[in-house]
Amino acid sequence: MASPISSLFLHFIFLSLFALATTALAKVPANQTFRFVNQGEFGDRIIEYDASYRVIRNDVYTFLAIPFRLCFYNTTPDAFIFAIRAGFPNDESLMRWVWDANRNDPVRENATLTFGEDGNFVLADADGRVVWQTNTANKGVTGIKLLTNGNLVLFDKNGKFVWQSFDYPTDTLLVGQSVKINGRNKLVCRTSDMDGSDGPYSMILDRNGFIMYLNNSGQLLIYGGWPIKDFGDIVTFDAVPENDNATAYELVLRTTTLQAHQGGSLPGNGRRRLLQVRPIGGGGEKFLNKLNYNATSSFLRLGSDGNLRAYTYYDPVSYLKWEESFAFFSSYFVRECALPSKCGSFGLCDKRMCVACPSPRGLLGWSESCKPPKLAACGKGAKVEYYKIVGVEHFLNPYLDDGEGPMKVEQCRDKCSRDCKCLGFIYKEDTFKCLTAPVLGTLIKNVNTTSVGYIKYTR
Ligand SMILES: *[C@@H]1O[C@H](CO)[C@@H](O)[C@H](O)[C@H]1NC(C)=O
Ligand SMILES: *[C@@H]1O[C@H](CO)[C@@H](O)[C@H](O)[C@H]1NC(C)=O
Ligand SMILES: *[C@@H]1O[C@H](CO)[C@@H](O)[C@H](O)[C@H]1NC(C)=O
Ligand SMILES: *[C@@H]1O[C@H](CO)[C@@H](O)[C@H](O)[C@H]1NC(C)=O
Ligand SMILES: *[C@@H]1O[C@H](CO)[C@@H](O)[C@H](O)[C@H]1NC(C)=O
Ligand SMILES: *[C@@H]1O[C@H](CO)[C@@H](O)[C@H](O)[C@H]1NC(C)=O
Repeated sequence: MASPISSLFLHFIFLSLFALATTALAKVPANQTFRFVNQGEFGDRIIEYDASYRVIRNDVYTFLAIPFRLCFYNTTPDAFIFAIRAGFPNDESLMRWVWDANRNDPVRENATLTFGEDGNFVLADADGRVVWQTNTANKGVTGIKLLTNGNLVLFDKNGKFVWQSFDYPTDTLLVGQSVKINGRNKLVCRTSDMDGSDGPYSMILDRNGFIMYLNNSGQLLIYGGWPIKDFGDIVTFDAVPENDNATAYELVLRTTTLQAHQGGSLPGNGRRRLLQVRPIGGGGEKFLNKLNYNATSSFLRLGSDGNLRAYTYYDPVSYLKWEESFAFFSSYFVRECALPSKCGSFGLCDKRMCVACPSPRGLLGWSESCKPPKLAACGKGAKVEYYKIVGVEHFLNPYLDDGEGPMKVEQCRDKCSRDCKCLGFIYKEDTFKCLTAPVLGTLIKNVNTTSVGYIKYTR
């Protein structure tokens, strides 16, 4: 008679073989595989970033799920991004790019997009180099589909998603899309309209909140977002009908907290407990805006200027249909002057306007060319000086509790002088707090003359 152990073992072997066999059997039907080559005519719609684009379709697939569609696009010659576009057909207004696969590694003319029988979806450059892939070979994938919510999915024979673009947001969240602490936990802006590669601003979800950071050569400086401890494990952008008639919609960030289900789990069986992880009630919501029309076609994006904006498709207007329906830095949310890039690389901002270019000679008129003063090479013996601007704050002030201290202004000055990375400091004459600034950007006019800015310069 077999011992219970060995019978259990045989059972296990049998199950494993069975699992192997079923995965091996589940394949993409040959007539649903494809290989799309990036060549041919460009489309003629008006497209965001002034891009050229090619629609991705063939005899079997249109990859059109209104308003979404798969495309290749380029903003500079021969540098293509595989992307999802949002825009309604026969519409004169700007179509938008809401997801991309290879923003940091564009491909050339004749690059290929292949969906094979093994279920892997692969973007290879013209020379065959694999640039991007879903890594879903032999994982039971039987088909691919672009859904009407803008989610590109690879699914198995039960319809379960083996891979989905919603799990890999770039700078944009579509309605229903999330960032997750245990997954892709951030949005990263593009560098500029012309350059789609990762830019300096990101918005990261972790235990400290859902926070906007400026990446200053690797040092992350907080400038906005929701710095709330345990904000949530999942943050989802959503458009929620306000009433049964759906005449008004609320744009929200829905937060969900995951907690292992306590009852009924098998002792010692960690895997099962993981499977029972489920959202528990009470998840919070951050209200962004209320719109008196159908706001189902919306998206939330971290722009290359660092502002977080929502755009909503509003049909009754002829142009600009994806109108701005929310902006984090705006008159109805957080003061615009607190956006570090508001006045370009340097400027004094007062009531939504860049009013001056602070210089050693005083406040000059502001223009895009306003720059922080040039500093001589920093090191031993290098003498630095400071010029003073009364009544200003730095974007870091509210988030860093005005810096360190209390200390004397001379100590604060020495601290900045010793630090080659310090470009200036804000000293609070009432609380004696000292904030050193590793980047200047936009200085915020403060009615309180006790808040004084000192900008480092060399004569
Ligand atoms: C693919 O082939 C199967 C049979 O092998 C057939 O039932 C199906 O209609 C075909 N699909 C297309 C899109 O041609
Ligand atoms: C792309 O491939 C075609 C052949 O399919 C070739 O004629 C063409 O020159 C290629 N284009 C480039 C830019 O290499
Ligand atoms: C910040 O920028 C540096 C390059 O300056 C880069 O290596 C790093 O990955 C960036 N960090 C984040 C979190 O974006
Ligand atoms: C919804 O529509 C019904 C009739 O169509 C109307 O009686 C009711 O007042 C509406 N409710 C709201 C909240 O607009
Ligand atoms: C709102 O718009 C979406 C997408 O355009 C559509 O599917 C939905 O039916 C609309 N809802 C109402 C209540 O009209
Ligand atoms: C200015 O600073 C003083 C001293 O800290 C404080 O009492 C006052 O409320 C501040 N005024 C404004 C407008 O912030």
